[in-house]
Amino acid sequence: MCGIAGYVGGKNAPVVLFDMLKRLEYRGYDSAGIAYVGEDGINIPKGKGKVDEVRASLNPESLMGQIGVGHTRWATHGVPSTVNAHPHTDCTGVFAVAHNGIIENFLELKDELEERGHSFKSETDTEVIAHLIEEYYDGDFLEAFAKALGKLKGSYAITALSTHHRDMILVARNESPLLIGLGEGENFIASDAPAFLGETKEAVILDDLEYGVVTAGNTAFYSLKSGRKLRKKHETLSWSFREAERGGYHHFMLKEVHEEPDAAVNALKGEKELRAVCDKISSCRRVYFVACGTAYHAGLYGKYLMERLGLAAEASIASEFRYSTAGSLNSECAVIAISQSGETADTIAAVKAAKARGAYTACIVNVVGSSLTRLCDDSAYTYSGPEIAVASTKAYIGQLVSVALLSLESAKKKMKLDEKDFLDYFDELKNIRERIQDILDSNEIRALAESEANTRTFFYLGRRENYPTALEGALKLKEISYVHAEGYAAGELKHGPLALMDETVTVLAIMPDDELKRKVESNISEIKARGAKVITVGVNKDIRIPKTYPIFAPILAIVPLHLFAYYISVLKGLDPDKPRNLAKSVTVE
Ligand code: F6R
Repeated sequence: MCGIAGYVGGKNAPVVLFDMLKRLEYRGYDSAGIAYVGEDGINIPKGKGKVDEVRASLNPESLMGQIGVGHTRWATHGVPSTVNAHPHTDCTGVFAVAHNGIIENFLELKDELEERGHSFKSETDTEVIAHLIEEYYDGDFLEAFAKALGKLKGSYAITALSTHHRDMILVARNESPLLIGLGEGENFIASDAPAFLGETKEAVILDDLEYGVVTAGNTAFYSLKSGRKLRKKHETLSWSFREAERGGYHHFMLKEVHEEPDAAVNALKGEKELRAVCDKISSCRRVYFVACGTAYHAGLYGKYLMERLGLAAEASIASEFRYSTAGSLNSECAVIAISQSGETADTIAAVKAAKARGAYTACIVNVVGSSLTRLCDDSAYTYSGPEIAVASTKAYIGQLVSVALLSLESAKKKMKLDEKDFLDYFDELKNIRERIQDILDSNEIRALAESEANTRTFFYLGRRENYPTALEGALKLKEISYVHAEGYAAGELKHGPLALMDETVTVLAIMPDDELKRKVESNISEIKARGAKVITVGVNKDIRIPKTYPIFAPILAIVPLHLFAYYISVLKGLDPDKPRNLAKSVTVE
């Protein structure tokens, strides 16, 4: 949430910064701005709107500076407006700060600073940081910065500039991601690697409560706890610049759906990591999948799958788990966090709560080196590549395959599955890529979306392992099309929602190819009798998916539903990559 960027080097910083912000836009897009040091001091061109709108109004090509910081915002404190857009300055305009996160004690700090004569311009929590630096500054920028950080409670990734120190950007991190991209005679700072992948793949990843100084030719990092200088590892990032580009597609979402076949097969690369997790959870009494949103649906699939294979598992929404189930955990429990970004605040908090109770923790994550991977006892990657569209698609496929593999390995280890059955399932998982490709090649979904573009209410129904598919199909449609869509367990319909069924409603029913088929058919008859339209999804159904083992059907059934949501959004003239009010990577509670 919120993307921050920094650049110091020989290029024109305003232009570089706007390019970087564009690549971070999926993190927030209600306003944007930069601060750069020009001949006459710090300039802060900024404004309300998406990065391109702000860029067009400011014309960064006409600006000149070799050092600067930038920000693309997802508002937390204060409405989206030019005055609340980052960066923010102190009273004198000597220090500028961009920030991602939430300063929980900002009101307290603001009161204290106001009493000491500081005057504030914005409604943001961030502005206190600039005033704190001003308050502590005595000729040493880094020391003032560290003192200011010492006063902050909450989460932050911060970049700071000063006209008194024109060669350096100061950086800090606590519970919000921040990376330094290491170039030749230039350095980049960003919330996420795609911002600088076109320039360098060498990076330093800051950990919580670390801060540092970045110049064009040097970096130095320190621990906020001990004040000691740190020897930070240089990491080589595996993602390529091309992967983070839109290619020939109109939207990142469409590109990422077309990468779903690869995402399925790439997740199998995590086999060894998943086996290590499986070894640890085999001695645990209970396994909890914990996640948010789409990733939670992958966790719910994991629960059903484990249960189908004779193993006990639960799936919990992280924001609920952290305040409920977490309190009853002990060392016999395992918590497996699922997350595309590895930065979701609620998921991280749930893992921290589980660790505090002595539970084993592991994560299934896409972003290498992200916070969850640093926190958990073990990590397995989905290897889905960068996912830029706000709505998660290919990462979900990666999560489903990873969870399936983990469940199969666990069942084999616990003797619930013999070697032959395991190998049969594993072979089919390897074939899933082609089956997804068949769905994408069939090209049927756009026409269907056209016929449903004006429908106002959708229900998605599924049973057992396809219940998560129903939830996920509905989530995707509502978040990018702003149409009312509900995912429901098919058997629950008659306990309430059946009252809503009439000719204005369309129901997408995911039809299993197993013993539950008849049950869903009965549910469909009940719906049709009330006048609603039903579209079935399954082998030889209205929306066709290839045959596979029923336990893997959710990996296929969601693919046309992703496309359906995409086309409805486009037909409504919306931007599916940047749905209103949302941002990727939810780093606040
Ligand atoms: C929906 C979506 C969100 C995320 C959720 C968790 O399309 O993308 O629901 O799944 O915010 O994010 P991660 O997976 O990064 O933890």
